[in-house]
Amino acid sequence: MENQDLEKYYTECIEYSNKIKNPILRECCQRIYEDYREKLMNKPATGGSHHYFKGGLLYHIFSVTRNAIAICNLYPDLEVDMDLIIFGALTHDIGKTNDFNDFTENENYEANRGNSAALLGHSYEGTHIVENYLSQYDMDELFKNQVLHMIGSHMNEYSEWGALVLPKMLEVLIINFADNMDAHFEPAHDAIKNGKNGELYKIGNAPRPYYKSSNPFYNKG
Ligand SMILES: [Fe+2]
Ligand SMILES: [Fe+2]
Repeated sequence: MENQDLEKYYTECIEYSNKIKNPILRECCQRIYEDYREKLMNKPATGGSHHYFKGGLLYHIFSVTRNAIAICNLYPDLEVDMDLIIFGALTHDIGKTNDFNDFTENENYEANRGNSAALLGHSYEGTHIVENYLSQYDMDELFKNQVLHMIGSHMNEYSEWGALVLPKMLEVLIINFADNMDAHFEPAHDAIKNGKNGELYKIGNAPRPYYKSSNPFYNKG
């Protein structure tokens, strides 16, 4: 992805953060984005399973925030706190700034992987980063933990890459679905977009290959 596109997505993320009504969360989010700008724009989102390119982390975070807002628009009767959703989506993978090195064109995925991922994982890293910022403000303790819950539980399952705790708020379920959509669509589309109808394609270390439709009326291949 070109630098100018990354600049555009960074600006879009700041625009999303401007929608946060709670001034502490808004300021905190914008400080994190200022401090982590270079890392967000240089790192991949994963070690190869999705958004494996320079700035993939920023682009993924932008997409998840867009998706989460779109899901809320599909369910206008849902009573959810958009501040938690937007703040949570914008910071859900901030811990990956510690997990991965800056992207290099290297076939060996391990070359782009940092050291701390194996020890603490991005759910913890992100919760820790955000807590360090939030602790500088005078905040209600329960609400602070609800904010941290958006990051610590966003993976929605216990696994090697998983959550610290399972979701206990509707807001984080929405972030999880928004995250999952993006993490699955991108590698599937990347695998098949230049492929031929009916053939099977695999990308990077994504867990499974993808078929392109063999429908004879689907003429894009
Ligand atoms: Fe994540
Ligand atoms: Fe994510």
